[in-house]
Amino acid sequence: MARRKQIYEGKAKILYEGPEPGTMIQYFKDDATAGNGAKHAIIDGKGVLNNRISEFVMVGLEQIGIPTHFIRRLNMREQLIRQVEIVPLEVIVRNVAAGSLAKRYGLKDGEQLPRSIVEFCLKSDELGDPPVSEDMITAFNWASPQEMDDIMAYALRINDFLCGMFAGVGIRLVDFKVEFGRQYEGDMVRIVLADEISPDSCRLWDAATGESMDKDRFRKDLGGLTDAYREVARRLGIIRDNE
Ligand code: C5P
Repeated sequence: MARRKQIYEGKAKILYEGPEPGTMIQYFKDDATAGNGAKHAIIDGKGVLNNRISEFVMVGLEQIGIPTHFIRRLNMREQLIRQVEIVPLEVIVRNVAAGSLAKRYGLKDGEQLPRSIVEFCLKSDELGDPPVSEDMITAFNWASPQEMDDIMAYALRINDFLCGMFAGVGIRLVDFKVEFGRQYEGDMVRIVLADEISPDSCRLWDAATGESMDKDRFRKDLGGLTDAYREVARRLGIIRDNE
């Protein structure tokens, strides 16, 4: 295949120009980073699993009416996506206290939250993704009030869908991060789910043992990351037992 034009390289993915206008190709790397890039490793096979898991989730979300950037998976590491303008926010939904929330507010890891909590952080590597309020987001024009209504509603519906999907295969969805983008079509612009949903961006605990099946295995040096991601894919029926 002819060499494609690279548009952007992130910590775990590369975006290339797509075959048609308004499309891009999202390539999943094996790189794992934590602490805003302070810790880095190559984990064999991670990109392949995240590509498959994210495809599975995006297809399921489209089926319940959440618009996404996903068009189709092209091969083991690449998917065709719609070109969007990323809203510069990390949208975090939490069901259970863990990670930075537990640390910030002195909560016990694993404590069920009284209701699901949506948090916003500004997407900025230089600033370390600082938390921002909805008021600040609209004041600085990072997103409009209407866009925030859409983002909030989609985030909660995604959470409902994912909680049910994972609970059905014995996995507790602790929290996750999503990103949204603006898709322009003629005079129209709409908010769509972008980026990826994978064990890199979710906290997933085995419902029976409480064991981490996500990127915390890398963050906390627990090892066995690829095996855990493979187990998530296997339970969801994405890959067969012997793959
Ligand atoms: O670290 P923290 O507890 O705030 O993370 C909440 C959730 O968001 C976790 O599932 C984590 O994997 C995800 N996250 C992410 N990318 C970031 C920050 C958090 O995917 N830059």
